[in-house]
Amino acid sequence: MRKVVVPGTFDPITLGHMDVITRSSQLFDEVIVGVAASQGKGAHGPLFTLDERVALAKSEVKGLDNVTVQPFDNLLVEFARSVGACAVVKGLRATTDFEYEFQMAALNYRLDKDLEALFVMSSPEHMYVSSSVAKEIARMDGPLKGITSLAVENALRAKYGLDPIEA
Ligand code: PNS
Repeated sequence: MRKVVVPGTFDPITLGHMDVITRSSQLFDEVIVGVAASQGKGAHGPLFTLDERVALAKSEVKGLDNVTVQPFDNLLVEFARSVGACAVVKGLRATTDFEYEFQMAALNYRLDKDLEALFVMSSPEHMYVSSSVAKEIARMDGPLKGITSLAVENALRAKYGLDPIEA
């Protein structure tokens, strides 16, 4: 039984995240999407509360049978161990991601040598997708087609006081 964690802040979950999660779900028996509290992230912390980020992620993955979503507020290596995961899977978009991920992987290795760090290359259509870009475009009332699902787009629009988009 090969179980992996796909961790992140997911503020909010994008189609780029879904690409990594979907591909992981095809490679492994079980995937746990670990939503980090990440309270210290950014100047004011995440835009969405932890509960909101978990709810959005749950609704995005509901079609994937072997994927579940769990929040965590401890070290990633501890969370991964507690759920019995053999590896952490992350997506890589560009060399800029590599610098950061390389540092995180090295740090996590120091903390737990048995936890494998695996990376999947982002598909070309998701190379430019990030939660930050999604927030920036939504805040300016721009379209998020190809970046997030409609449900996530409307959750973002609600945060910025904008009317929802009809399906
Ligand atoms: O989507 P993100 O924000 O790039 O994900 C980063 C995340 C949540 C994977 C990373 O911050 C993390 O692992 N946080 C949990 C705390 C931890 O273990 N930090 C690493 C040692 S400082």
